[in-house]
Amino acid sequence: WEAVMQVFEGGHEQVVIREDAGTGLRAIIAIHSTTLGPAAGGCRHWVYPDADSALSDALRLSQGMTFKNALADIPFGGGKSVILGRPGVALTPRQLETFGAWVDELGGRYVTAEDVGMQVSDLRVVARSTRFVSGLGTAGFGGDPSPHTALGVLTGIEAAVRARLGRDDLDGVRVAVQGLGSVGFQLATLLRQRGAELRVADLSGERVARAVKGLGAEPMDVADVLFADVDVVAPCALGGVLNTDSVPRLRASVVAGAANNQLATDDVGELLTERGILYAPDYVINAGGVISIAGEYLGQQDPEWTASRIRGIATRLGTIFERAAATGESTSRIADQMARERLARAARSELQGDREVA
Ligand code: NAI
Repeated sequence: WEAVMQVFEGGHEQVVIREDAGTGLRAIIAIHSTTLGPAAGGCRHWVYPDADSALSDALRLSQGMTFKNALADIPFGGGKSVILGRPGVALTPRQLETFGAWVDELGGRYVTAEDVGMQVSDLRVVARSTRFVSGLGTAGFGGDPSPHTALGVLTGIEAAVRARLGRDDLDGVRVAVQGLGSVGFQLATLLRQRGAELRVADLSGERVARAVKGLGAEPMDVADVLFADVDVVAPCALGGVLNTDSVPRLRASVVAGAANNQLATDDVGELLTERGILYAPDYVINAGGVISIAGEYLGQQDPEWTASRIRGIATRLGTIFERAAATGESTSRIADQMARERLARAARSELQGDREVA
């Protein structure tokens, strides 16, 4: 019953919970909103302690996708799916095809893509049973979202530096990058090309060594990088890094990075505001990837379609920063408000029989 209440309280349109006795596949597909278009969001393959945790994750993540897609200026609503994994057991092709068939039965109301625990190679198997999947890159465009995510974060950092430091360029601006994975390393490279001074940290010594050698970055301990004496901190590794313990110790005046769910709890946004730290809400600044995946799904081969939306990240952040400064509210609350406003506008025009086109 608790689980049912969770679905009602989240306002989800549809939640599909399925088990296939033949393959042993167990999955949940949560469609939070189709107000702006098909519910889009990746599929996570994860070992959950129990089915309730998997459901909570699917509900929370799909709701997050509604807000993210709404502010990314793409004609998609929010959804997410989770496959309940077993420790140390990979998904079989039959399971992936079965998952694809379940997505297909929704007739396009949900579009799936890559997420934690799912590779592009897995998605290609999913795509044998459904066309409602994106991020495959098979048509010769789209594919790996990380370069687009990195570019979006770069434009977001530029917008934040403009707003907080009054600077139109990044020459000599000191940036600490936490995590040099797919996004973090490409971001560090772009920052370096624009003259930023880099501090970097990663659990992988090899990645750090590459950044030191190739980008002239200063290496830092993973425990210290968030608290570096820099202008900008860019979290590009884990979620939850901004919390009541870390925020009082930050020395940067801007936090702007790719990691999802950077705020451990919503009220950490206010803590950042109180400390005068400008925070670029994670789901706004890291939307370059979903923009690219959306473009691929829509068959948008014109690079300008993606590029203009990625530039839009900076414009949108500029508006968020202005509204936050004018109202004293945290940038994360303002972002949520703007997402709700776009959804409300679209719902109104849909009522009038005129779907909003992003
Ligand atoms: P990744 O897995 O390629 O890279 C993560 C990196 O962080 C790895 O190099 C890992 O060694 C490092 N790391 C882990 N713990 C660390 C710690 N405590 N200190 C320093 N480094 C640590 O992941 P990816 O794709 O680069 O994503 C990074 C973040 O951005 C994640 O939070 C992801 O959810 C988010 N994101 C990624 C998108 C994409 O297009 N790949 C899109 C939107 C968000």
